[in-house]
Amino acid sequence: MKAAALSDLPEEGAVLGTEVEGRRVALARVDGEVYAFADNCSHRDFPLSVGEVDPVSCTVTCEWHGAAFDIRTGEPTCPPAFRPIAVYAVKVEDSEVWVELA
Ligand code: FES
Repeated sequence: MKAAALSDLPEEGAVLGTEVEGRRVALARVDGEVYAFADNCSHRDFPLSVGEVDPVSCTVTCEWHGAAFDIRTGEPTCPPAFRPIAVYAVKVEDSEVWVELA
């Protein structure tokens, strides 16, 4: 399913919240790659797309209480979140970002 245009993620570390098939999905650009993950922190369901992406560690930090997740695997890297978030396969084609939710 098409999720965004690549131009919606113009620079390294850019993060964007969107909806794919009724599901909240966050997209982030790191090291020329686009990653897709659930736009819900597993701690208290806060949108991760308003958080900050660290391109060096490839993590997103939740704005509410500071939990962090590896956006490649969804695994939490910093409390207070202990449960992983979903991550999704991404394909970039003709400057369009496609996400597979399954
Ligand atoms: S809601 Fe994300 S750390 Fe609490």
